Amino acid sequence: MGHRRIRSRASALFTSGWAAFLLSGCFGGGIQSTIDPKSDATRIIQSLYGLVTWIDIGIFVVVFGFLIITILRFREKPGQGIPKQVRGHLGLEIIWTIIPALLLVFIAIPTWSGIFRAYSPPSGNSLKVEAIGHQWWWEFNYPELGVVTANEMHIPVGRPIVIDTFSKDVVHSFWVPKLAAKIDSLPGHVNTVWFEAEEIATYFAQCAEFCGTSHANMRFRVIVESPEDFDKWVAKQKQPPVAVSDAAKAGQTLFQQKVCIVCHTISGVPGAVGIVGPNLTNLLNRKTLASAIMENNNENLVKWIQAPRSFKPGALMILPIPVNEEEATQLAAFLMSEPAQ
Ligand code: CUA
Repeated sequence: MGHRRIRSRASALFTSGWAAFLLSGCFGGGIQSTIDPKSDATRIIQSLYGLVTWIDIGIFVVVFGFLIITILRFREKPGQGIPKQVRGHLGLEIIWTIIPALLLVFIAIPTWSGIFRAYSPPSGNSLKVEAIGHQWWWEFNYPELGVVTANEMHIPVGRPIVIDTFSKDVVHSFWVPKLAAKIDSLPGHVNTVWFEAEEIATYFAQCAEFCGTSHANMRFRVIVESPEDFDKWVAKQKQPPVAVSDAAKAGQTLFQQKVCIVCHTISGVPGAVGIVGPNLTNLLNRKTLASAIMENNNENLVKWIQAPRSFKPGALMILPIPVNEEEATQLAAFLMSEPAQ
């Protein structure tokens, strides 16, 4: 291999390495960056992360500094012969035992205080949300408000949110990188994590534990909004959709005939009380479909209804009766109906 080829390979490797680093979201701008905290909880994690990183850099500089000095100063010189042989050094041994021990204590103090904070969720004005993992979507249940939704969790800004997470099937993991610590969602056991969002925005999130075929398609969004907007959203979640057009009316009939109601709930729609699949109340006001893997619009919804597995491999949404395009269009018209005021 010629020098030029080696050099171009090395430069390609270097460039692709940087590209991977930039794309990985290591930098603060990434939509799922873990080092761009937007809540009190992730700020604590970030400060620990920073502390440990700076201590590590200090250790690296000191150890490699001594190593380089030693290599240069004590390298073999011409005609030197075998240098003086020594064994062990009590003073040095004591120093390099005590220094790491002190560093560990120094790191342990803020770590413990962070852990204690994580294990003492607030009561008072906090809002409780149950985040329930399903293959492959998220259910969000607000027991105090009597509201259930799927894949897009709405929360008010500046109020402590206590997430109780568990699973209906296998192990999942609740992860909103900018807002909350990552925590496992286990079947038969509730894990709790809490945080207070600082900024009104939409946050990207996803399941962080391999849970089967469509694990990578088990995404969700956290929509942080003003308390007023949040209250409006809660009110809409309690209203039935109002089928206005003929297509929407036909869709409502189909929704019941095609046994969609066995798996799906829609507030105020008679018989639609299934809990196996996502709650579809107020679907019109969701930004995404199919656990945040695609934009919510009429066209995508029609395609999704006809063939969910072509978008989400292994999806458990079963169509007991085939749905043609016309029927899918009518169902979509019904599902996208404005909720009653
Ligand atoms: Cu659920 Cu991965």
